[in-house]
Amino acid sequence: MLEGKTIIVTGCSSGIGAETARLIKQYGGTVIGVDRNETSENVDTFFQADLSSKESIDKLADQLPKGANGLASIAGVPPTAPADTVIRVNLVGLKYLNSKLVDGLADGASIVNLASLAGAGWQNAVDQIKDAEGLDFDGVEDFVERHKIAESQGRSYFFAKEALVVWTMQNRWTWRDRGIRMNAVSPGAVETPILQDFLDTLGKKAEESRKVMDRWGTPEDVAPVVVFLLSDMTPWIRGVNIPVDGGQVANVLCNMNGL
Ligand code: NAI
Repeated sequence: MLEGKTIIVTGCSSGIGAETARLIKQYGGTVIGVDRNETSENVDTFFQADLSSKESIDKLADQLPKGANGLASIAGVPPTAPADTVIRVNLVGLKYLNSKLVDGLADGASIVNLASLAGAGWQNAVDQIKDAEGLDFDGVEDFVERHKIAESQGRSYFFAKEALVVWTMQNRWTWRDRGIRMNAVSPGAVETPILQDFLDTLGKKAEESRKVMDRWGTPEDVAPVVVFLLSDMTPWIRGVNIPVDGGQVANVLCNMNGL
């Protein structure tokens, strides 16, 4: 399915990123892994970088080979990290890396952003999202302060993922003349090293959602959807956010609408 394709995978050293890298190789692709933590597993080449830092991303972009057929932006930090860091890694750094790499991607490349169920409520945050459109590394502290983001538990994470879902939709046709598409995948709670961070942040909400769920997700539930979007089977899927959440979005929508 991915024979002859080279895919850049950020967050390749753990959890969903590691499983995605493993699956890309299983399907015949070549993996260029990026993470702050070094690994030699599931990757053909590895580049260490801190995706919360502009300087580190600049250095990384200079080193990465041109011509990749895909970029899976999976690296992320949980809501227990400081608000500035969450927005830097999960939104500003991701967008900045994308801007540095997209010209060098092969025509027809697929870009997949790892968003989250936490981004599903973006319609309620449109003004905040618009205010973050041109947000760069230097502006993050001020943005967090202005929107009182650190004052509400987990808001940094929810905001970053909401903005990521919206940015993915906004880029539905940005590189259409080159056949480059961008989509997002939004998992519910997944058993990785950061699951407990989510449960701690969500508190009662997490308990309630556990009650209606048969189980948490696993990286093996999520990675195949990322790989599907990276493959040549999906050229007309553009600007879409695919929930991989055991039915949680459907459950909320049905309940909300009395269905
Ligand atoms: P994980 O902690 O297992 O993997 C995240 C990877 O990103 C790690 O290898 C980490 O070193 C890397 N990373 C973090 N900050 C970095 C930085 N500044 N520079 C470079 N690399 C960095 O977590 P998991 O669960 O696999 O998360 C992957 C993505 O999935 C994240 O974007 C997360 O927000 C998202 N997600 C996770 C869910 C879950 O319940 N585990 C649910 C929904 C979305």
